[in-house]
Amino acid sequence: MTKSVSQESPCLAVNLAGLKLANPMMTASGTCGYAYEYQDFVDLHQLGAFVTKSISRDPRPGNPATRIVETPSGMMNAIGLANVGLDVFLAEKLDQLKQMRQGGPALIVNVAGHSIDDYVAVAGRIAQEQEVDAVELNVSCPNVGDGLTFGTDPKLLKELIGYVRKAMRADCKLIVQLSPNVGDITLTAGAAIDGGANILSMINTYTALAIDIKTRKPRIANGTGGLSGPAIRPLAVYLVSRVYREVAQKAGVPIIGMGGIRTWSDAAEFLIAGATGLAVGTSLFADPATPVNIMAGLESYLAEQDMSSITELIGTLEMPVR
Ligand SMILES: Cc1cc2nc3c(=O)[nH]c(=O)nc-3n(C[C@H](O)[C@H](O)[C@H](O)COP(=O)(O)O)c2cc1C
Repeated sequence: MTKSVSQESPCLAVNLAGLKLANPMMTASGTCGYAYEYQDFVDLHQLGAFVTKSISRDPRPGNPATRIVETPSGMMNAIGLANVGLDVFLAEKLDQLKQMRQGGPALIVNVAGHSIDDYVAVAGRIAQEQEVDAVELNVSCPNVGDGLTFGTDPKLLKELIGYVRKAMRADCKLIVQLSPNVGDITLTAGAAIDGGANILSMINTYTALAIDIKTRKPRIANGTGGLSGPAIRPLAVYLVSRVYREVAQKAGVPIIGMGGIRTWSDAAEFLIAGATGLAVGTSLFADPATPVNIMAGLESYLAEQDMSSITELIGTLEMPVR
């Protein structure tokens, strides 16, 4: 008997811990500034959410060049969290963002810091803005001296999240972006959830090294950089599937999956592994419309699978029983 396929397009809407998105697609932090830089390429209203570059308490010039190099199937970066700082963000960038996103995507502001005090001050202030739907904490950037401390130490991470959650507007969601540069990511995921994270996003970049064999020096001025793009996708899918099955599903905490998403089938893999939201970073450098293009492919695939909603696909991975 053939299955009857619904005539209506499958519904792409998702619910991230109460944050309702028209579709799961979003930008990955740091890959399209504060949206102003991106709006000439894509109608922001087509996205489920827009995620800003990391904002720190003070402005940061970032690392010296060379800050980005291409690698097989990916790229490495050590931007060093270059950003305008909290005051300029609030005075200039946020207004632009509010206007651009009217009636459109959810607004997620990414926050970085060097101390609990930094994170609490910046996340707490940003969450006062009613237009900000969620704050994403970057506790995992491998490119600043002490940036990895919080992201790799479960005890410290839980403490940090607890303080930040208390400092934020109650209905502003707290997303914690996990680092893959740890022995067991389920421990940091669990700590983030215990601390009060509403949503997990994963993964940030892998610490990596590319060498110029003529000079015998690193190709990136900072020395090491963070590897992103299709090269890390199977690793990211694996980590999402583990965190979903071992920690997040039973806690009822949704995951935003990222790491090398370029096509609709990449996106489908993350959803099957357990992601509810999907962020695209590196692929935007080749085609800024990637998140929008992915949606058409996902719709056809869901219809083919006889699914009327994308939510039917989430976490449906069948692992072999051992
Ligand atoms: C050029 C570049 C800059 C980034 N800057 C940030 C940042 O400011 N804050 C952050 O939390 N993540 C940052 N990331 C990490 C991305 O948000 C994302 O986690 C990672 O790149 C994996 O996704 P992708 O493979 O689709 O790029 C950056 C990534 C790239 C490539």
